[in-house]
Amino acid sequence: MKQTTWLGILLFLLLNNNVSAQETITDKPIHIIPKPLELVRGKGQFTILPSTQIRYNPAFSDLAEAGVFLNKRIKEISGYSLPVGNAASNSIELLLVENLALNKEGYTLSVQADKIRLAAPSKAGLIYGMQSLLQCLPAIRTNARLEIPVMEIRDQPRFGYRGIMIDVSRHFFATQAIKDIIDLLSAYKMNVFHWHLTDDPGWRIQIDKYPALTSMAAWRVDRSGIPWNERKAAQPGEKATYGGYYTKEQIREIVAYATERNITIIPEIEMPGHSVAAVSAYPFLSCTGQQQALITGGQYPSGIQTNYCAGNDSSFLFLQDVLDEVLDLFPSRLIHIGGDEVDKRSWQQCSKCQARMKKEGLKDEHELQSYFIKRMEKYLNAKGRQIIGWDEILEGGLAPGATVMSWRGEAGGIEAAKMKHPVVMTPGSPLYFDHYQAGPAGEPIAFGGFNPLKKVYAYEPIPQELRNTEFATYVMGAQGNLWTESIETREHLEYMLLPRMMALAEVVWSKPEARNWVDFRTRLEAHFTGLAQKGFRFSEGNFTVGIKPLIADGQLKVALETEALDATIHYTLDGSYPTTGSPFYTSPITINGNATLKAITVKNGRVKGNEPAVQQFVKHLATGKTVSYQYPNSNSYMADGPNSLTDGIRGTGQVGKYWHGFSGKDMVATIDLQQLQTVREVSVGVMQHYKDWIFFPTGVSVELSTDGKTFKQVGTYSNRIAADETKSMLEDVRIAFSPKQARYIRVTAKVLPACPKGHPGEGQAAWLFVDEILVK
Ligand code: ACM
Ligand code: ZN
Repeated sequence: MKQTTWLGILLFLLLNNNVSAQETITDKPIHIIPKPLELVRGKGQFTILPSTQIRYNPAFSDLAEAGVFLNKRIKEISGYSLPVGNAASNSIELLLVENLALNKEGYTLSVQADKIRLAAPSKAGLIYGMQSLLQCLPAIRTNARLEIPVMEIRDQPRFGYRGIMIDVSRHFFATQAIKDIIDLLSAYKMNVFHWHLTDDPGWRIQIDKYPALTSMAAWRVDRSGIPWNERKAAQPGEKATYGGYYTKEQIREIVAYATERNITIIPEIEMPGHSVAAVSAYPFLSCTGQQQALITGGQYPSGIQTNYCAGNDSSFLFLQDVLDEVLDLFPSRLIHIGGDEVDKRSWQQCSKCQARMKKEGLKDEHELQSYFIKRMEKYLNAKGRQIIGWDEILEGGLAPGATVMSWRGEAGGIEAAKMKHPVVMTPGSPLYFDHYQAGPAGEPIAFGGFNPLKKVYAYEPIPQELRNTEFATYVMGAQGNLWTESIETREHLEYMLLPRMMALAEVVWSKPEARNWVDFRTRLEAHFTGLAQKGFRFSEGNFTVGIKPLIADGQLKVALETEALDATIHYTLDGSYPTTGSPFYTSPITINGNATLKAITVKNGRVKGNEPAVQQFVKHLATGKTVSYQYPNSNSYMADGPNSLTDGIRGTGQVGKYWHGFSGKDMVATIDLQQLQTVREVSVGVMQHYKDWIFFPTGVSVELSTDGKTFKQVGTYSNRIAADETKSMLEDVRIAFSPKQARYIRVTAKVLPACPKGHPGEGQAAWLFVDEILVK
């Protein structure tokens, strides 16, 4: 054994002293995400050495497991296998402590120069404390010393449910990709992985009793590389070669991996809709019992059966058998039963379903769906589990113990919370991570919508309506959903998830008062380095310049903004491509005539992002003038407020951007030009977007008035485009007439009375979308 010499000790002290004198680390920022509840920084640092001991009482399995977890992580970044021991210094002590005055996932982390002490009431808290510690260390193995700044942290989550959903049905992702995502979730203190295992385009979980679910329903005709909604249906004779599923062994391995990281996996077995895959393998489950192939993408051949038959007891018995095997694999208290987007037409036409409704006294198919869910809830409750479902499970009557996942905005969540049901908020805007996070020009194809990082970061899970009421406590937390229509590879999956998941992590963990975009964005930069070192794909952020029109005193100005920190915006107004040499933005720009604004973000002398933001402006007699409506437009499609139809800003092909939406109601808009003007043409920008239930108006009329009381019709237009034309179209409906003096202009655009025959919303209210009303 080597003797310790006085010289050696002296040298050690000198060197150590030298390192702390330089304060190599005190200058380095601490960039923990999500932001801890309390963090007080001291001077100096603790250094993990090969001799550093992990200290805990091995009689407690939670401590022993936490100790093993920490040792594995340290080994990955250093190669050290830290000894377990009782050293009072140069040690990392783990303690289970009940009375920390923190919730059960909380922890305290005390880092001093000679020791670290991590205390928590549960293993969860210990894991999170270690994640904070690990975030201060290098992400991968390097030559860097393992130094952790001296600090005191007290931390706990704001919400108990912090989730991410991944859809593995539309595209399949291998076990390793799932584990890597679970690792990421845990690193950012999320605690739920909602695994969307079954849906129309593929069944992804081994069920021994029904082998065709994996031999048949997990495989479809391969249309990879073709946009989801353009994929041709399977043709006779084509082989089903795309797919995959998780074996029970793989699932057990993933569940254990998740448990080790304090992640609960909530499996989702969709019912009664989104069941094409199951029904394809076992046609007896559907209302018609007919043979069918798996869908290959977003097109559903006519007559395809998407639901389990609710009149047939064998549907329920099948699902009970499936759930028995699911429960055996997943310890989660909550089991997701889907419940969304049930196309009830097959039930309307099915004698068994109709007989069930009669027998059970159900007044419509919504109540039949409610019967279906309640029956399955009873089964799961008897097995000690609770159901969670998409907000459609409210329709026809909510099952007694159900948790509601609010995805069609927050309305379902608010309704359920007021009924004292637990709620998880996952509104499409901004928590659908399949939507664009930048661009969209130049971005990989996404499902539409625009949910950039800043919008996710600004999300508040307790809706205004519930704030400061007894119902607020029913909001358990929030979840980001990653549907995979457009996501074929794990690289793309990571790109859509990162960094939006990290913004959500801070939303659900940290105090709302602590939320600060610039601070978060600054901390995030350090994490990008680690993510890149680990080989993850991520979006560097939304560099697309935001263009915000401002109208005051009849003048149109535009404000420009970028989410990038320390960046400038450069722009042109003549449609030319902006460069770093173009004028840079300082304050709102006045738009005086027709213009095409293009703007870019420039950081460190380089253009960031893919394509410039573009917005067209038109100058006409009504620009900036006030509009009043007979029927208000939808709150969901307000563009930039009530005067958006005369803001001079043209709507783009993107639904929602600068469009006013009217659902089931005509647009009757009256513009006040504020003085008599000579008017000879009015045109109205309209959209048809079949997939989103948006149709051209059936007709438009223009009336003029000098006093705002008596109006005289001067022109009309009748639509000639078929309502079932599925191609997306923008059009300016122009109505010209001989020049007339007028101060008031009334424009009526008639909404299609209902969604047309064969449309998924057949018979239901259609949308009318209008952007600018141009007056010449
Ligand atoms: C859903 O997006 N259909 C839940
Ligand atoms: Zn039926």
